[in-house]
Amino acid sequence: MGYQAHFRVWRGDADSGGLRDYTVEVNEGEVVLDILHRLQATQCPDLAVRWNCKAGKCGSCSAEVNGRPRLTCMTRMSTFTEGETVTVTPMRTFPVIKDLVCDVSYNYVKAREVPSFRPPEGVEPGEYRMQQVDVQRSQEFRKCIECFLCQDTCHVIRDHEENKEAFSGPRYLIRVAELEMHPLDSHEQAGGDRAEEARGDHGLGLCNITKCCTDVCPEHIRITDNALIPLKERVADRRYDPILRFFRRKQD
Ligand code: SF4
Ligand code: F3S
Ligand code: FES
Repeated sequence: MGYQAHFRVWRGDADSGGLRDYTVEVNEGEVVLDILHRLQATQCPDLAVRWNCKAGKCGSCSAEVNGRPRLTCMTRMSTFTEGETVTVTPMRTFPVIKDLVCDVSYNYVKAREVPSFRPPEGVEPGEYRMQQVDVQRSQEFRKCIECFLCQDTCHVIRDHEENKEAFSGPRYLIRVAELEMHPLDSHEQAGGDRAEEARGDHGLGLCNITKCCTDVCPEHIRITDNALIPLKERVADRRYDPILRFFRRKQD
């Protein structure tokens, strides 16, 4: 049975904006993105909404629904009671372009700062061999759909614009973790050190393990337990191991 829902949607652009109220039809089985599309079709054709797959796989439709970062295409209207006001706002961590569409280019800048996988010398593609357990570890991190909900919720940048330069955010720290733990990555043989880069170039030390990123990840990647904490342990092992420290001091 359909009903009329009360929606409150942020409308505006980079200069100004605010919440606007709408009453809109909801039918059984619909998700928040369906309702935004109905608003576009019936009441506000200029409502800007980013989306693509409507299947939880492209990561485009990210927004905040009643203050929680969510994929609007995967948020069922049955999550809410019929009398509840459903408030949809753009991701707060990124600058608004228009309505629910943000400028997420910060993430692409950070992506470019992670040196890519470096294959081992003298081993051709097709000759790579690694254990299944290592394949599975990489696969968990590679489920990422780049929805940026983890980036949106992380207080290190959500509440501190000034940290954006130093901190790459959970999404790119899992990329560093994946490569650091990859048995065939030869970045280190070429003079790199991914754990040290996580600390120095990507601001790993600013993460205080609040786990909010893990809570909102629609792919259920265990960002904190499987990527951030192991990376922190590797940094601590290398930086504070007394023998390694001794040799590092001698080099300095
Ligand atoms: Fe989205 Fe999860 Fe990837 Fe973060 S790690 S961008 S929340 S899919
Ligand atoms: Fe931020 Fe996740 Fe760390 S939310 S503080 S990156 S555990
Ligand atoms: Fe693709 Fe929502 S529209 S994830």
